[in-house]
Amino acid sequence: MSKQVLVAVKTFSRSKQLRVTVTLDRRSGKRIAFVPTMGNLHDGHIQLVRRAKQIADKVVVSIFVNPLQFGANEDLSSYPRTLVADKQKLQAEGVDYLLYPDVEEIYPEGMDKQTLVVVPELADTLCGATRPGHFSGVSTVVTKLFQIVQPDIAIFGKKDFQQLAIIEKMVKDLCMPIEILGVETARDVDGLALSSRNGFLTEKERLIAPKLHKVLQECRNAIACGFDSYHELEQYCTGKLKAEGFDPDYFSVRDAETLHDVTAATEQLVILAAAKLGRPRLIDNVTLTLDPKKDWGMLTAH
Ligand code: PAJ
Repeated sequence: MSKQVLVAVKTFSRSKQLRVTVTLDRRSGKRIAFVPTMGNLHDGHIQLVRRAKQIADKVVVSIFVNPLQFGANEDLSSYPRTLVADKQKLQAEGVDYLLYPDVEEIYPEGMDKQTLVVVPELADTLCGATRPGHFSGVSTVVTKLFQIVQPDIAIFGKKDFQQLAIIEKMVKDLCMPIEILGVETARDVDGLALSSRNGFLTEKERLIAPKLHKVLQECRNAIACGFDSYHELEQYCTGKLKAEGFDPDYFSVRDAETLHDVTAATEQLVILAAAKLGRPRLIDNVTLTLDPKKDWGMLTAH
């Protein structure tokens, strides 16, 4: 029987040291992939890491619970921090480097003095409307992490559809020489999108939680069958979520490219929802590619 030798993931708390190491790798012709995370790693994160391993020579993961993207009344202090287990998972996947900085390393002059990266419009709608400043916190920290790691490619989950759209726009607008790759949402067997916040659900709430995805799928099926009164559908689905015990923040049918309302030019739809269920706020989305002849045939659905 062959034994697998696990090499410890090299962990850096200082940005400069990681940058020097990665620069040497790049100079020797290695392709670098980067997966930014806030830790408490689950199979969704691991899917991103596996994709990174497939397409690059060296894989960098960061774990940083970024205070700049949390609102005053949000769960920064209770956000799950599980470094030992996370490192074991990264080691098992053969990740090369882990960046694990503290807040002072990323914001040495404090968050108030930090230059911000703001992506207009896209960051103000959906989650941005109820979480002011959240996406500028995300785009700012991702820019800083990109500057530290300087990867060839960075990998994000489609579960955070709006976040991915914002990062893609930011990279394009700021001419960052980084390819952005989106990976499909990893789900539990009952359809619930994996999330670090699912651990906050009570047993009873955990049974209700998959209904968020079910209602999204029902909405998609209705559209695929030709129902195109999106506003009515949004209201109906919001009502359904309420009846199941959710406190919906939004339920919205959008153009997947622009995140604006659907128009005659829309080729791909995304249906996005955010809802509180007890303590955690859950988000999810499904997409639907429309038939180019607009006979509403469903080509691909995720
Ligand atoms: P975090 O919530 O830890 O997520 C890290 C990455 O994992 C993100 O790209 C997210 O979309 C992806 N991810 C989370 N759950 C997933 C799932 N069920 N399936 C597939 N991918 C999933 O998102 C953040 O951290 C932060 O905002 C960050 C980008 C690190 C900036 O601080």
